[in-house]
Amino acid sequence: VNAPLAYITGASSGIGHALALRLHRAGFRLALVARRGEEIRRWLDEHRIEDAAVYVADVRDVAAIAAAGRACIAEQGLPDVVIANAGVSIGMDTAVFEDLEVMRLTLETNLLGVAATFHPFVAPMRERRSGTLVGIASVAGIRGLPGHGAYCASKAGVRVVTIAPGYVDTPLTRRNRYAMPFLMPAARFADAALRAIQAGASYRVIPWQMGVVAKLLRLLPDALFDRAFAGRPRKHRRGHGAAQR
Ligand SMILES: NC(=O)c1ccc[n+]([C@@H]2O[C@H](COP(=O)([O-])OP(=O)(O)OC[C@H]3O[C@@H](n4cnc5c(N)ncnc54)[C@H](OP(=O)(O)O)[C@@H]3O)[C@@H](O)[C@H]2O)c1
Repeated sequence: VNAPLAYITGASSGIGHALALRLHRAGFRLALVARRGEEIRRWLDEHRIEDAAVYVADVRDVAAIAAAGRACIAEQGLPDVVIANAGVSIGMDTAVFEDLEVMRLTLETNLLGVAATFHPFVAPMRERRSGTLVGIASVAGIRGLPGHGAYCASKAGVRVVTIAPGYVDTPLTRRNRYAMPFLMPAARFADAALRAIQAGASYRVIPWQMGVVAKLLRLLPDALFDRAFAGRPRKHRRGHGAAQR
């Protein structure tokens, strides 16, 4: 019997690295995706992982990421777990014209990119009647509403797991200029994420404390929230200090 297969995007850094290592140790074969394939290969060498497949694709390019998924299915088989983890986090100011491009980049990567990542797997998983699609969301999205795509997939025997990280220590957060409550090492995040995936949780905030914080912030009257957060240092905008890819 073949070992189970995990397909992970954003596997060239931070949370993607930690999830890949955790799943490898749990006995999964790996199919890893990012734009920087050489960085994935370097990391695989470092950890002496030999039975992994590497796919180079930009999740904003729907044809390319769908083709990567189809290549994985053809070459490695249909994954048991697909983790749409690739994402960017860049500050923006609506008043600055160039930052509208940052908004486009963010939506294309974090929203369209997730749907395009899942796309090639949905029909075959439905047909096989098994498989788990995992989206790495964020506590920053707690005001959002669940979409119908996830609902429909969940109706067809395909599990959909949404994991919302609080603050995890990765290159994405290392340059933040503000306090990051309950900041967590990536390896501990990956342990908790695998438990959530194996339990088939539909939604989990990791660490859970940040879920409480975010929900309390949502309950706070807007005027109070605005006053409390007005002077808070902001996320780096593009070209303002933080390394951006
Ligand atoms: N760290 C946190 O505290 C935190 C909190 C909440 C949510 N998250 C979410 O967790 C996920 C991983 O974040 P991280 O902290 O590990 O960040 P990271 O260290 O910056 O890694 C981001 C990963 O996404 C990949 N990526 C970015 N744009 C891509 C694109 N267009 N196409 C393909 N791959 C792309 C990058 O690979 P390449 O550059 O090689 O393509 C990299 O592997 C993100 O979705 C992030 O929003 C993180």
